[in-house]
Amino acid sequence: MAFSRTSTLVLAVTSLVTGISASLETCASNSALSCQSSSTSPTCCYNYPGGALLQTQFWDTDPSTGPTDSWTIHGLWPDNCDGTYQSSCDSSRAYTNITDILEAQDRTELLSYMQQYWLDINGDDESFWAHEWGKHGTCINTITPSCYTSYTPQEEVGDFFQKVVDLFKGLDTYKALSDAGITPSSSKTYSLSKIQSALSTLHDGAEVYLGCDNGSLNEVWYFFNVAGNAIDGQYVASDTLTTSSCPSSGIKYVPKSSS
Ligand SMILES: *[C@@H]1O[C@H](CO)[C@@H](O)[C@H](O)[C@H]1NC(C)=O
Ligand SMILES: *[C@@H]1O[C@H](CO)[C@@H](O)[C@H](O)[C@H]1NC(C)=O
Repeated sequence: MAFSRTSTLVLAVTSLVTGISASLETCASNSALSCQSSSTSPTCCYNYPGGALLQTQFWDTDPSTGPTDSWTIHGLWPDNCDGTYQSSCDSSRAYTNITDILEAQDRTELLSYMQQYWLDINGDDESFWAHEWGKHGTCINTITPSCYTSYTPQEEVGDFFQKVVDLFKGLDTYKALSDAGITPSSSKTYSLSKIQSALSTLHDGAEVYLGCDNGSLNEVWYFFNVAGNAIDGQYVASDTLTTSSCPSSGIKYVPKSSS
C-alpha cells in the first residue's frame, strides 16, 4: 500500500497548512461514478462492491412512529449494483454505543434529530441505530478508518449518521406525495404508478423502490450512485434495483395516529 501511505502524508501536510480538521481523503472532482465504471478496485474514492447507496425510509403505522406528517429514517445501505448486498462487514467496528459516540463528538443536534426521525418501531432506537451501523454502515468501503488521514476512533460513525440524516432531509417523501395529491387516508387508495411518479419527480426522474405490507405503503428506498467517497462525494439518483412489493392498484396509505 505504498500509494496510500504517500497520499496520506501529502494530505496530512495539506491539512496542517490549511487547518482543515475533517480528515477523510479528498477525492478528485472527476472521481468515477460507482456502478457506472468497469473498475473493480475498491478505493477510498470509489464505492465498491457496494456501489449503490440506498437512503431507505419507513411509514410506520402499527404502531405509529414519528411525526404524522413525515416519513422516518431506516438507514443508508450499500448494494452491489444488482440488488444483492454485503452485510455486517466488520465486527470489530459494530459499536453498540451510538449515542455515546455522537455525544463524544459533540453531535448533539444530529442526535436530537435522530430522536425525532430515526425511530425503532419497538421503541429501542439505540439498538436500531447500532444495527443499521453494524449491518450496513461497516460495509461502506470509502469510510473505513484507513480512508482517514488523521483518524480519531469512531469518527466514521459520526460521519455516517450525519450523512444519512442529510440525505433524508433532502428526500421529503411526505411532502412529495402530498404535493401530488397523495395523502394518508383510511378510505382512499392509490395506484403504484401515481405514487412512483410523485417520488420519481422528487428523485431526479429515477425510479424508487416502493414497499407495501398487506397492500399498505410502508417503505421507500432511494437509490444513488456516488462519485467520490460516501460522505463528501456527489450523489447521483439512480433507478431502483429491486422490484416493488406493492400491488399495481388499490394501495392504502394509512394515516399515522398521533401520540
Ligand atoms: C464506544 O464503544 C467502543 C467499543 O467498545 C469504545 O472503544 C469507545 O470508547 C466507546 N465510545 C464512547 C464515546 O463511549
Ligand atoms: C390485510 O388487509 C386486508 C384488506 O384490507 C384486511 O382485511 C386484513 O385484516 C389485513 N391483514 C392484516 C394482517 O393486517
